[in-house]
Amino acid sequence: MKFKLAVLPGDGVGPEVVAAAVQVLQAVGRMSGHEFVISYSDIGGVSIDRHGVALTEDTLKMCKRSHAVLLGAVGGPKWDNPLASMRPEDGLLALRKGLKLFANLRPVKVLPMLIDSTTLKPEVLRGVDLLVVRELTGGLYFGKPKRQWQTAKGRRAVDSMVYSEEEIERILRAGFELARVRRRKLTSVDKANVLESSRLWRQIAIELSSDYPDVELEHQLVDACAMRLIQRPAEFDVIVTENTFGDILTDEASMLAGSLGMLPSASIAGIPESRRRIFGLYEPIHGSSPRRAGRDMANPIATILSSAMMLRYSFGLAKEAESIESAIESVLEEGYRTYDIMSKGMKKVGTKGMGDLIARKVA
Ligand code: IPM
Ligand code: MG
Repeated sequence: MKFKLAVLPGDGVGPEVVAAAVQVLQAVGRMSGHEFVISYSDIGGVSIDRHGVALTEDTLKMCKRSHAVLLGAVGGPKWDNPLASMRPEDGLLALRKGLKLFANLRPVKVLPMLIDSTTLKPEVLRGVDLLVVRELTGGLYFGKPKRQWQTAKGRRAVDSMVYSEEEIERILRAGFELARVRRRKLTSVDKANVLESSRLWRQIAIELSSDYPDVELEHQLVDACAMRLIQRPAEFDVIVTENTFGDILTDEASMLAGSLGMLPSASIAGIPESRRRIFGLYEPIHGSSPRRAGRDMANPIATILSSAMMLRYSFGLAKEAESIESAIESVLEEGYRTYDIMSKGMKKVGTKGMGDLIARKVA
């Protein structure tokens, strides 16, 4: 089959990790006979520099015409001025909103051969296999009012955590559905002891749970969840939470897998079902890592794993997705490591080297 793929490399290490993922996809194409027709465009800082905006209408259109989008990263010190009217991150947010990608799936799995390269005790990490379902187009990121202004008593600023019933229901349903095809445990994370939006969230979670009697629902406050994630991470199956909480908890959870450079993500506009292909945006959860940019250092595995998620959800190619995942495992098994997961006695490789090794295994 023929699939249209929009690729937005973005800033910092984005272009390097994306190049490695494209190389792996091409190997999958050769092996499976499927064709991936790729169009490239700009997003983030590079788009501000070239076109004056972080996301152009043309780029958004190109993405809408594709079956899926693969993205590197956005941002960097060059565009970090807090007074600037536009930031690279605005491009990513506009893309998520423009493509209606309300559900962000961030799986966290601890690979046995990396247990020793994490900062946590191996016995805490054994068996960790969780999925964070993060709400992606609401909450503090998009709520209005959102502004900064001058008053007689100094400056003030406001962000608003706004959620409608519809927004909460669809993300919770995504959580329930995904729990159903895993270990059937859903942890709904909120701050219902303080926030009104969280109280609505919790009520709706309780109401919906009668539609999913086969899924065990528990509620956790976000601060307690942050603690439990490093105390007893193996107890989690699916965590569903609002935008900002999910952003913070997934950076924390990435340390369970050894590095931010290991965690993929899928942002989708519906609830994934095994038989239906779904439009999505796939990106590593790490940022643009400006200090490593252009130095062939960054770990491409998060982006390569993201492209495996793309094959599974957007292209319906589950077998090919698995072949990427097992190629990654065997390259790690053989002792190859990028700097971020390096440990004694292992063989250090760069972004390109890691991409080559994985592509060769897939083929
Ligand atoms: C992420 C990133 C983004 C976010 C930034 C770059 C806007 O941290 O995808 O987790 O906060 O969503
Ligand atoms: Mg983040």
